[in-house]
Amino acid sequence: MKKIDITASINGIKLPLCIMNASGVLCTTDQELSNLLNSYSGGVVTKSCTYKPREGNISPRYFEWNIGSINSMGLPNLGINFYLNFLEKNKINKPIFLSISGLSTEENYLLIQKANQSSKITAIELNLSCPNIIEKKEMLDCNFDGISNFIENIFRFNKKPLGIKLPPYFHDIHIKNMALILNRFPIFFVTCINSLPNGIFIDVNKESVVIRPKKGFGGIGGSIIKPFALANIHKFYTYLRKDISIIGCGGISSGKDIFEHILCGATAVQIGTQFMKEGVSVFERLKKELIFILEKKNYSSLNNFKGKLKNLQ
Ligand code: SIN
Repeated sequence: MKKIDITASINGIKLPLCIMNASGVLCTTDQELSNLLNSYSGGVVTKSCTYKPREGNISPRYFEWNIGSINSMGLPNLGINFYLNFLEKNKINKPIFLSISGLSTEENYLLIQKANQSSKITAIELNLSCPNIIEKKEMLDCNFDGISNFIENIFRFNKKPLGIKLPPYFHDIHIKNMALILNRFPIFFVTCINSLPNGIFIDVNKESVVIRPKKGFGGIGGSIIKPFALANIHKFYTYLRKDISIIGCGGISSGKDIFEHILCGATAVQIGTQFMKEGVSVFERLKKELIFILEKKNYSSLNNFKGKLKNLQ
């Protein structure tokens, strides 16, 4: 039988498997990160960190149902020093993506400076799209002038491979504007998409929302957001410079979902809600399912079909 290659290269960063965890899910503590290092995942993404540790929002702050999840975690994390120390203490056997999400532009600069001092970090994933921060005054991901300035300042001092985790956009013009800005900088990758912001899930028996922060509003993840993830990936694939890789995230629970993300242009994928439901065994299952599909289609690598989604004639 022909050997099937499901490794990935994110602008030169080699992943032994194109599947990894999404930041936020089971990647906050020492134990969770060790589990990921020992799993089949192709890389480890850490929980988006701030400069100081944060408790995050009040509980209950996460809820899941058969086809989706809602969260308003509020960036609970152990602070950047914890993640840098964890990486120093442990044997690193795969690429490490340090996710950072400062509460202000200045905090993000500080976090990126600190990340630049660690030799254990493969890349920085700059999360500009967390929808759950009560104290945040501005979302930079929707401020196209602001973001351009901000990235320009980052690349005055940043030497690490850097990618940006984006929110879902719903208009072609927003994706085009963002892509045209990103194309001006030496960005390594974008991660598309973070959760769909400001959703509500209702418990009909109780006639109430299911999470406490922000009166029940939170970011929606899971299978129901897959069409939006695919659309964002496909449009960014059209507009971005070809050396900027896309990491697909959103609605993956099977090998078929991964196939669809790659068909739209993703180079690698991240698993959020399904990882939360299933734990670290999810990576091996998805790997098997993806290989099964490639075998059936007689493809030997992801590049055989990456970005080749067809239109109807
Ligand atoms: C959170 O901690 O609120 C989730 C992180 C995110 O959506 O970026």
